[in-house]
Amino acid sequence: MTSPSLEFEDLEVDFPTKDGIVRAVRGVSCSLESGQVLGIVGESGSGKSVTALAAMGLLPRNAIVRGSVRFKGRELLGLKEKEYSDVRGTGIGMIFQDPMTSLNPVYSIGWQIAEAVRAHQSVSKEEALLEAVRLLKTVGIPNPEDRVTDYPHEFSGGMRQRVVIAIAMANNPDVILADEPTTALDVTVQAQVLASLKLALTETHAALLLITHDLGVIAGLADRVLVMYAGRSVEMGSVDDIFYRPAMPYTHGLLGSLPRLDSDGSERLRPIPGSPPANAGEHQGCPFAPRCPRRAAICEEQEPELTLVPGPEGAEPHRAACHFAEEVSQAEPGKLFAISSGDPEAGPVR
Ligand SMILES: Nc1ncnc2c1ncn2[C@@H]1O[C@H](COP(=O)(O)OP(=O)(O)O)[C@@H](O)[C@H]1O
Ligand SMILES: [Mg+2]
Repeated sequence: MTSPSLEFEDLEVDFPTKDGIVRAVRGVSCSLESGQVLGIVGESGSGKSVTALAAMGLLPRNAIVRGSVRFKGRELLGLKEKEYSDVRGTGIGMIFQDPMTSLNPVYSIGWQIAEAVRAHQSVSKEEALLEAVRLLKTVGIPNPEDRVTDYPHEFSGGMRQRVVIAIAMANNPDVILADEPTTALDVTVQAQVLASLKLALTETHAALLLITHDLGVIAGLADRVLVMYAGRSVEMGSVDDIFYRPAMPYTHGLLGSLPRLDSDGSERLRPIPGSPPANAGEHQGCPFAPRCPRRAAICEEQEPELTLVPGPEGAEPHRAACHFAEEVSQAEPGKLFAISSGDPEAGPVR
C-alpha cells in the first residue's frame, strides 16, 4: 500500500504566552489520500490555520509542536528550513486567503508563472511564457495573451487568486493546501475561483486540503470533511455524513447557519449561540457544552473521544466526538438548535 499524500497523527500545537499556554491544536489525526479533497471546517480560532502551518513548517519559532505530519510517508516535523523549502517548492503548494502573500508586486503576472514553470521544466523563457498564457487561460483569465504582461495590482482579487492557482499548477505539486482561499471574495467570484481550483486538481491530480469556516465552500468540492472545534477534530466523515447525518451538535449548528439555495427564504438562518472557549486546554468536559442544545451532566465532566458512528453498511468510517453521537446523527440536520429538548437531563438552551 502506498502512503497517503499527507497524514497528521496526534498533532498538538501549544503557544507559550504571557497569560499561559494556549493549546491551539489538541490532537488532530487525519489523512489525505492521493487525488482526494479533504475539507477542514470550523469557526474562527478552532485551530485550522495552525494545523496547516504546522504541516508547512511555517509556525512561529516559539510554537511547541508534538505528534507527526508525514508527506508521502516522510516526516515533516523537525525538518531543517532548507529541507522544508524543497517540500514547499515541489511537493506541497499553498494558497492563502490574501493572494498578495504569494505574489510579488514588482514582477509581471506572466514572469511569476513562467518562473515556476522554469523551476520544474527545462524550457526556454519564451516557452515558459507560452505555458504561462496557457495556464492563465485554464484558470479562466480572459484575454490571457494581453494580461500576461500585467502586474498584480492590475488584477482584481478574484483574478489574483486564480493567478496563485496557476502558479500552484505550474509547480505540479502532490498536495495543494488552501487556507480560506475564497473568504475575502464576493460570492460569485468565490464560485469562479472554486471552479478554477477544481480544474487545477483535474490537471495536476493533486490532493487538496481545503480549509474554510464556510461549510458551503466544501459542499461542491470535498470528498471527506473534518470539523474542528477548540483545537480538536470533533467530527470526520464523508460529505454525505456531514451534511445528512451530522453526529456532533456543533456540525448541526454550522449547517443551521448556512444559507440554503433550495429554501424560499422563509426559514431564518440560526447562528450558533455563544462563542468558542478562549483557551480550550483549560476546560473540563466537552468544550462545546456551554453552547449545546443536547447538553447533559456528563458533558460538563468528560470531554468525549472521537468514536465511530453507526452508518449505512459498507460506508467509510464516520466519527464524532459527542456523548450522544448516535442519537444526534438521527436528528434532522440543522434543526437541532431549534428544538428545546424535552429530556430532563438536558441543559437549558442558552
Ligand atoms: N502565534 C500565536 N500565539 C499564540 N496563540 C496563537 C498563535 N497563533 C494562533 N494562536 C491561537 O491558536 C488558536 C487557533 O488559531 P487558528 O489556527 O489561526 O484558527 P483558525 O481556525 O481560525 O484558522 C486561536 O485561539 C489563536 O488565537
Ligand atoms: Mg485561519
